[in-house]
Amino acid sequence: MKSVVLFIGPAGSGKTSLTAAFGKWLWSRMVTPAAYVNLDPGVEYLPYRPDIDIRQYVTVEEVMKKYGLGPNGALIKSIEIACKYLDDILERASKLPAPYVLVDTPGQMELFLFREFGPRFVEKFKKAGHIIGVVILDPTLMRKAQDIVSLKLLSLLTSLRLGVDVIPVINKADAVEEGEILRDDERLRLELSRESEGVIGEISERILDLLNDYRLATRVPLVSATTGKGLEELYDMLHEIFCACGDLT
Ligand code: GTP
Repeated sequence: MKSVVLFIGPAGSGKTSLTAAFGKWLWSRMVTPAAYVNLDPGVEYLPYRPDIDIRQYVTVEEVMKKYGLGPNGALIKSIEIACKYLDDILERASKLPAPYVLVDTPGQMELFLFREFGPRFVEKFKKAGHIIGVVILDPTLMRKAQDIVSLKLLSLLTSLRLGVDVIPVINKADAVEEGEILRDDERLRLELSRESEGVIGEISERILDLLNDYRLATRVPLVSATTGKGLEELYDMLHEIFCACGDLT
């Protein structure tokens, strides 16, 4: 069984950079060889060499020309076209020699989550390996306690939509002060009680309780694709889940 990691997040959150940095980290530590899959038909430059690249099947540029669409419409159309090639992609992925497969998903998160492509990709890939999603957000969206609750909810939503375990991650750690991000549960709750009054505050508290009850309130690694900070913590968390499922020893 392969260990498959999907890097998912809003545009510009750092999916491509983190895919490259995490792969490089795995190789440099000789932890395990990693293969790369690019699922973004619109990307122009990749800082890693993909073993499988969706652009071999379809590109946004070609679709814009062929169908006379703008960039957003062409991205949606490209993803629809890509669905036809999923079996071929899966067959090639299962033959990759690396035990770790890192998947860089399309620029816009909603294209992967709320269209047919993402769930179908995951369903097919479950035959080849155990999949974990890494949901990435930018620290500029993480200034308030409510933002952390939103990240946890977004991870839960991703988990529900794709049917996989998900680790929420904050990228671009090099661009913030460590203490700025509320990662400690006790501090988070204290800040929430200060920040949010009334119904919103109560809902947030209950969301945190619910996630805790079901052991879904995973810690949130603060990572940097630029400096490599936090990648070991992310690896440990992934390893824990893969091991718990018997994929790794
Ligand atoms: P799209 O697929 O184009 O939506 O973007 P993405 O989510 O793949 O993000 P990408 O890796 O292209 O990074 C977006 C921008 O964030 C680039 O300018 C990166 O250089 C920058 N970036 C990514 N990771 C980091 C990081 O850890 N620190 C800093 N400071 N910038 C980063």
